[in-house]
Amino acid sequence: MTLDQKRILLVIGGGIAAYKSLDLVRRLRERGAQVRTILTKAGAEFITPLSAASLSGEKCFTDLFSLTDEADIGHIRLSREADLVVVAPATADLMAKMAQGFANDLASTVLVATDKRVLIAPAMNPYMWNHQATRRNLAQLIADGVATVGPNQGEMAERNEMGRGRMAEPLEIVAAIEKLLAEMPATDALKGRRMLVTSGPTHEPIDPVRYISNRSSGKQGHSVARAAAAAGAEVLLVSGPVEIPDPSGVKTVHVETAAEMLSAAEAALPVDIAVCAAAVADWRVDAVANEKLKKQEGRIPSLSLVENPDVLATLARHSKKRPRLVIGFAAETENLLAHAREKLKRKGCDWIVANDVSPETGVFGGTHNQVHLVTANGVESWPSLSKEAVADGLVRKIAAEFARAGGKA
Ligand code: CTP
Repeated sequence: MTLDQKRILLVIGGGIAAYKSLDLVRRLRERGAQVRTILTKAGAEFITPLSAASLSGEKCFTDLFSLTDEADIGHIRLSREADLVVVAPATADLMAKMAQGFANDLASTVLVATDKRVLIAPAMNPYMWNHQATRRNLAQLIADGVATVGPNQGEMAERNEMGRGRMAEPLEIVAAIEKLLAEMPATDALKGRRMLVTSGPTHEPIDPVRYISNRSSGKQGHSVARAAAAAGAEVLLVSGPVEIPDPSGVKTVHVETAAEMLSAAEAALPVDIAVCAAAVADWRVDAVANEKLKKQEGRIPSLSLVENPDVLATLARHSKKRPRLVIGFAAETENLLAHAREKLKRKGCDWIVANDVSPETGVFGGTHNQVHLVTANGVESWPSLSKEAVADGLVRKIAAEFARAGGKA
């Protein structure tokens, strides 16, 4: 059975497609999954908690403030005791709540409280699907790492209305669930391992108000930290200045400069694994001005730069506490693989995750990444994936490496 023992938490929103979610419950259980359902208030206008409970074989949860529900299991446990959270149908309203982080009923609270990956199957009228607000919310959810399936093109419940907005069919949702779960590392894949991750850019001050930096968003590094924690590792994330939140279940240290990143990384040793995903500024200003540099008629200041320490190379060449597996990233705009191979040697690391960051790829700051895993044994090219999926894939590879070496990687 493809979903044997997998725990799916299914949030059923208020749309006509809710009836298809009952079929989804049946299909999931046929494949061996354990399904728990949450029915929103609007969802209960379309189907009953009794039908969801009968098909899932478990109580259907509806009310955040129901004392019996809370005493029974509690919304936090409900959100954590799952391998995957699925929202089907994901209405425009539920998507808006998710994008904003609302937590005013059981479904929205569980979606904010979960540390698991979330798959949404949107379903709504095509006008609602195409509305700017829904577009914005969808973009936000994708940026937050939420996976989507559908909606499909076709006839709507409203007579004579055609367009995109029909919820994906139950079997399509099942396929998306199977794919996501197959991508995900097991929850104990890195149990007992300590992992250090660097992420984001660094800011190298010029004066008290100006700095040198780059366009790194920290999304890829933060996703790796999240994925490793979800796989049971004890994770320390050293993050440069980013706009995204600290991942849950990860100890995060915030730094500004390359020098600070290096000391925080060294302080984290010993670790089993180090993943350097940060886009560390290569240079810093030699003499940082104590006061703001003032404009002077006809005089353009020149900055004298010195090289920053290399965090990755320092860890990879650490005489006493070299992590057993040291992984770097290579952000290139040309000759990707040649540069990556050269970096692997120069920095002394074990693997390089190489990605093309030319502006036309949209990788820097974007949600997707197409990477090549370069090791001493060769190159493995991955398809374009969400940064979450790249992180899951990398964590799976790391876990396999430790398993292969019998814990002695
Ligand atoms: N890196 C680091 N410390 C630095 C520079 C880079 O830890 N001072 C790490 C990055 O985190 C990444 C890898 O080295 O894992 C490669 O970074 P990249 O910017 O691609 O390489 P550079 O060493 O800066 O080389 P170049 O500028 O020639 O591409």
